[in-house]
Amino acid sequence: MKKYFKSILATTMVLSMTAALAGCGGGETNETLTLATSVDFPPFEYYEGGEPVGIDVEIAKALGEKLGYEVKIEDMNFDSIIPSIASGKADIAMAGLTVTEDRLQNVDFTDSYATGVQVVIVKEDSDITSVDDLFAEGANHTVGVQTATTGDVYTTTDIEGAGLGKVERYPKGADAIAALTAGKIDCVVIDNEPAKAFVEANEGLKILDTEYITEDYAIALAKDSELTESINTALQELKDDGTVQSIIDKYITAE
Ligand code: ARG
Repeated sequence: MKKYFKSILATTMVLSMTAALAGCGGGETNETLTLATSVDFPPFEYYEGGEPVGIDVEIAKALGEKLGYEVKIEDMNFDSIIPSIASGKADIAMAGLTVTEDRLQNVDFTDSYATGVQVVIVKEDSDITSVDDLFAEGANHTVGVQTATTGDVYTTTDIEGAGLGKVERYPKGADAIAALTAGKIDCVVIDNEPAKAFVEANEGLKILDTEYITEDYAIALAKDSELTESINTALQELKDDGTVQSIIDKYITAE
């Protein structure tokens, strides 16, 4: 019995060593890791010359390289990301994705790799001058958000639920920005880094100085996924050797 067990162990070791060696050998045999994302969120994921680029895309590729996977990007609407992970259609999700209690009911998250802040974008001449104006007694604003984002979740409770206005939901952040520019809505609640990119790309908009909510971005995986541990280990290595920071620095210039 003992001997039998040992020989299985030895075989397993040989097999996994072979797999490890194959992993180093240039990668034709690499498995694919399907990445669910919504390529509409600069600088985390956006298109440049028809190719998805950005912080999440590069960290995902670095993780894939470390773990011997070829990363296959599945671009989808933001509201499909968590369902695609929960149903096993995609292996991992990186989308400037905030860790929330609600999402933790359906997926697991790795350790965090970045911080996000929900901010408010208004027209330059807006009479909304601070986040608090949105929650003031008698306030009645129309707020634009990307469907199913934390901006949607928070404003649905804090504004719509509190009788302080209406929430307009758009498939993409850029659609909410277009509605703001067109004067259809009063403000947009979105994460700070894409907010900067959108304000830079559009005339006449500004970000309020006051912040709404700070949150942690992490990678989502299926509940109890066997990948979570290896991804966390690889992610920690990429943090320790400075890779994560250098990817962030490449896309975000410190002020
Ligand atoms: N951090 C927010 C959330 O998790 C917004 C993320 C939007 N990401 C995107 N790729 N559009 O809900």
